[in-house]
Amino acid sequence: MQGTRRRGRACPVPFVSVILAAAVWLAAAGFGSEEEHETPPTRSVRDGVYTEAQAARGKTVYLEQCVECHKEDLRGDQQMTPSLVGIAFTFRWKDKKLYDYFVGMRNTMPQSEPGSLSEETYADLVAYLLSEMGYAAGKDELSTDPEVLSEIVIESSATM
Ligand code: HEC
Repeated sequence: MQGTRRRGRACPVPFVSVILAAAVWLAAAGFGSEEEHETPPTRSVRDGVYTEAQAARGKTVYLEQCVECHKEDLRGDQQMTPSLVGIAFTFRWKDKKLYDYFVGMRNTMPQSEPGSLSEETYADLVAYLLSEMGYAAGKDELSTDPEVLSEIVIESSATM
């Protein structure tokens, strides 16, 4: 009698272990593949995409290279030179990638010598313009990497 009971109890143990092992293996496999396919979430210009120091550098360049046409208040001359802020900016750039804005600026400005500044300096200028439009600074500098810039969407600022 005792022998039969022992055998009855011994039988299910390995069976349960196999199921548990399979469950653990499946969970691990599922987790691994999920991580592999994970893409970084899209950010927006509202998420603190530049630093204050970077915007300050951008301002210095702006006052040397851009102020003559776009003016100190960044609103241009209301004739030939467009405003870089406010509705002019939002109307043209809302929902576009920050990369498109960066490239547009690099390829056309300063008007007398487009592309004459370094990539980093154009990023500094973008940072300065964002800061003037009321987008908050963050802890990481705005990158010049096309992939990173392409993941940042332009949303209208809190002040507009
Ligand atoms: C000689 C005058 C002049 C100077 C200097 C100049 N700009 Fe411009 N900028 C213009 C004119 C005119 C336009 C509109 C025509 C065009 O886009 O080419 C413009 C357009 C722009 C635009 C596009 C605006 C939009 O919403 O599409 C940006 C951004 C810009 N300038 C940034 C700059 C920056 C940054 C500098 C300094 C590095 C600079 N500009 C220097 C005259 C100038």
